[in-house]
Amino acid sequence: MRRGRAGAALLLLLAGSLLGLAAPGVFAEGTEAPPDCGQRPLLSETSESRIVGGQNAPDGAWPWTVSLQLRHSSLKYAHICGGVLVSKNSVLTAAHCVKQRRNPYFWRAVLGVHNLRKPGSQTARRTIRSIVVHPDFNTETFENDLALFQLGSAVQFSGSIQPACLTPQNLGPHHYNKTQCFISGWGRTEEKGKTSDVLQEARVEIIPSNICNSFGAYEGVVNDKMICAGSMSGSIDACQGDSGGPLSCYDQSTSRFYVIGIASYGLGCGRPRYPGVYVHLPLYREWIKDELLRNKAGNPVSTTLPILLWVIPLVLV
Ligand code: ARG
Repeated sequence: MRRGRAGAALLLLLAGSLLGLAAPGVFAEGTEAPPDCGQRPLLSETSESRIVGGQNAPDGAWPWTVSLQLRHSSLKYAHICGGVLVSKNSVLTAAHCVKQRRNPYFWRAVLGVHNLRKPGSQTARRTIRSIVVHPDFNTETFENDLALFQLGSAVQFSGSIQPACLTPQNLGPHHYNKTQCFISGWGRTEEKGKTSDVLQEARVEIIPSNICNSFGAYEGVVNDKMICAGSMSGSIDACQGDSGGPLSCYDQSTSRFYVIGIASYGLGCGRPRYPGVYVHLPLYREWIKDELLRNKAGNPVSTTLPILLWVIPLVLV
């Protein structure tokens, strides 16, 4: 009896890992993201809305926005940064979020959550298996401010948990301007204010780099792998605690949201002439793709192997 069941389990595991390895690449040809991505099953229409200068997001409005939390006592965790779910087991965030805290053991990811103090039945928590920081992250200039968390186990997509779409090609800022772009996060609602328990959202303008870099503004600090968003007149912005979270733009032709930026830095929050600066994600497609493939390939083996080692003696006795 025991042997029969263990044998069947072994076969299933083997079949499962083979299927996992044989599955098509992360980005299937033509589509640059999971086939179902960037959609909001719980919302019927793009809610016309307008963090600092934001409002409570409707429940389920940003199902790829993740809360990355750090353990500060045996059982307590604190929200540190936002993140973006890009596959069943991978979350993109900003590299500066993990600067001195690269040990995955102290982190967790909370997905499908609206109010951080009141997780719902759709909320999923995951341990972190690994953290990869972009090899060229520069702590001084904040260039390549990107990191990828691999979750301890995959999440199941639901109304509250959906993967983001990444852009199929490198679209210029003028393209985004024709679309509606939003930021979302649990960060501070004022420069010196408190973080928010309820997910905030704000509609932002994409600001051309020549304006963002002009005299009296960032004056050349923003390079072409970064993108500015918010408002030149101030008051609409991300703030501390929003870093790592998405800048999501709606594409009418595909009825999906594409994440084009990851919140990176800003001078203060919501100040005139100093909008938020985001990692310009389309330029990192190759790095993301390679890391996602690694997570995908790594998974079946790393989860199956310990189980196999445990099952084999049962089968062979
Ligand atoms: N770097 C900050 C963080 O760690 C905030 C990033 C965005 N700031 C801004 N003013 N847009 O959360």
